[in-house]
Amino acid sequence: MDNQTINTLLGHRSVRRFKPQSINPELLAGLLECGLRASNTGNMQLYSVIATTQEPLRGELCKLHFGQCATAPLWLTVCTDVARYHQYCRVNGCDEPYGNLLWFTSALVDAALCAQNICVAAESKGLGFCYLGTVNYNTRQIAELLQCPKGVVPVIAIAMGYPDEEPRRSERLGLDAVLHSETYHTPTDAELVETHRVRDDDPFNKKMVEENGTRNYCEIFTTKRYTRSMNTAVSNDLLQFLKDSGMWDF
Ligand SMILES: Cc1cc2nc3c(=O)[nH]c(=O)nc-3n(C[C@H](O)[C@H](O)[C@H](O)COP(=O)(O)O)c2cc1C
Repeated sequence: MDNQTINTLLGHRSVRRFKPQSINPELLAGLLECGLRASNTGNMQLYSVIATTQEPLRGELCKLHFGQCATAPLWLTVCTDVARYHQYCRVNGCDEPYGNLLWFTSALVDAALCAQNICVAAESKGLGFCYLGTVNYNTRQIAELLQCPKGVVPVIAIAMGYPDEEPRRSERLGLDAVLHSETYHTPTDAELVETHRVRDDDPFNKKMVEENGTRNYCEIFTTKRYTRSMNTAVSNDLLQFLKDSGMWDF
């Protein structure tokens, strides 16, 4: 299989170091239009994209992402947004029934599809990007910094610019791990070990195990990157923010 779109998708790699060159506003508008074309729930487009390029805001935002991707000239914060739809409801004299879990998850999917369209378009134009899950660690602070009203929740962060590095193309689990034919098949432990060899035997990952002094690759995640105590603390903060934001009503 081989065409330009497929080559862009299969060639993906995250970029974390960027040249100072900014992104032309016309190019950026074109990329964002690609985002807006993504399928979305009921064509309600329950998301907003905040583009941050100017100091000191760009630097402040970067700090809330723990200094990651510090050289990125463009930061996109994609938010689930029921505030705009509620306003539309109000203007039309209708009920405002979208501040709840159903619509948070629907909007989250919409936001992710929009973001990924933007990112694929960006890669096809020679730009690089990195998603930043740290948006979930400091959601409240990021929302405050970017002046998000109630009903607007930052859920996806993307640092973007022209690449100043050539990262490796990282491994992926294959179809033997991910694809289930007709119904779900829980692998035996032996099958699981086999399908994860691509990950566990990867030379780059093996080097990381050595550097981290862990027993295996998995343990880097459970003891260093995403530990249980950190997961719990972040989840509690996030849930409280969702409640305060009106997205957790039943
Ligand atoms: C939702 C999400 C959050 C991510 N958060 C971070 C992050 O905080 N820091 C980082 O360096 N990379 C982050 N990444 C990038 C992943 O680490 C990367 O996509 C993965 O390791 C696969 O590498 P590749 O994108 O180069 O193929 C994130 C990716 C996604 C989709």
